[in-house]
Amino acid sequence: MKRTYFLILIIPVIFLCCKKTNDAPGDIVKSDFDFAAKQLTFAMEETEKGIANESQESKAKREKKGYGPLVSPRSIEETGELILVPSRDWTSGFFPGELWYMYEYTKDPKWEAAARKYTARIEPEKKNGTTHDMGFKVYCSFGNGYRLTKDEAYKEVLIESAYTLATRFKPDAGIIRSWDHSRSKWDCPVIIDNMMNLELLFWAFGETKDSTLYKIAVSHADMTLKNHFREDYSSYHVIDYDTITGNVLKKNTHQGYAHESAWSRGQAWAVYGYTMCYRETGRTAYLDQAKNVVNYIFTHPNMPDDLIPYWDYDAPEIPNEPRDVSAATCTASALYELSMYDKENAAKYKAWADTILLNLSKHYLAKEGSTYGFLLLHSTGSKPGKFEVDQPLAYADYYFLEALLRKQKLEASGSVF
Ligand code: GLY
Repeated sequence: MKRTYFLILIIPVIFLCCKKTNDAPGDIVKSDFDFAAKQLTFAMEETEKGIANESQESKAKREKKGYGPLVSPRSIEETGELILVPSRDWTSGFFPGELWYMYEYTKDPKWEAAARKYTARIEPEKKNGTTHDMGFKVYCSFGNGYRLTKDEAYKEVLIESAYTLATRFKPDAGIIRSWDHSRSKWDCPVIIDNMMNLELLFWAFGETKDSTLYKIAVSHADMTLKNHFREDYSSYHVIDYDTITGNVLKKNTHQGYAHESAWSRGQAWAVYGYTMCYRETGRTAYLDQAKNVVNYIFTHPNMPDDLIPYWDYDAPEIPNEPRDVSAATCTASALYELSMYDKENAAKYKAWADTILLNLSKHYLAKEGSTYGFLLLHSTGSKPGKFEVDQPLAYADYYFLEALLRKQKLEASGSVF
């Protein structure tokens, strides 16, 4: 009788323990990539359907603006339609990048073929000097492609793209101009996002040994370090420069709640950007900056328990504000890398990144076969712009897959590379 009672008590305990093990962070890499394989297959079907069925009105509008054909999925409209973009859009490289990550994980040539197809569509951007977003577009697509295949043609595209990006450098101010739009508002706007595009310049320096590219990247990172941050290490979104004197004219936001608020994705770009700059230069000022911004994020009283931030740390209606999963995935990916450089805090960084990935895997995944094949729900593109609020975003998914791969590599070898 006693034995029966014992078994009745112990069986649920064993079951719970096993369940906990199944949910353990180590297992999510496989289950998330299995899920991504199905979703991204569906996403390609939906994307091709959307491209083939583009309305005459949309086509005419696009062509009138001189924009090329639609190439990649970006997000979902409030009305439920799939948002597809031409290569000139800053998000065009993320979908091909996701396909490269699928190839990296599975080693299945079918994903290489798919990645090559979507990567080729981004090539016209190598000559587009009208924006700073070259890294997002070309490094995520061709950069991953070159890393995995060593295709010389990809290398040429990347080097040409880096030189095109370098044409936006303003030597007297020491920065790369981000945007050409909103000229009535800003003389020379630089956004924190621009830190991400420096990786292409560092890579091209490594290949060409042209120190001009390295110096441009370092100068931009230094000026951003000096001008983009508040005393608490939170980042402004937009800094407007006088390109002759280098003076700061304005400290503003564009996608955040207010000029003095901390837009969540901006903080994520800063952590990722300075971690990468430390890797490329060994400068401790960059490592310290990454650590300080991480500290700002993870000690913020408005950070939710699941570590998926609201779209702005100062959004006025927290907790009734949309989240931004893209900020979480970018931060998680950066944290795995940062844990390699800041040994004292490595365990903490890895635990935060693991928690983010686990919570995303449990509570934020799209339903299989839904949402045009996007992986994660609940990102915010621009709340003030009233678009892509609480929607999937291609870049949230891209950094999710990157973070999962980094986690796997870190656990296997102690390095995310
Ligand atoms: N780079 C634009 C954004 O983060 O929304």
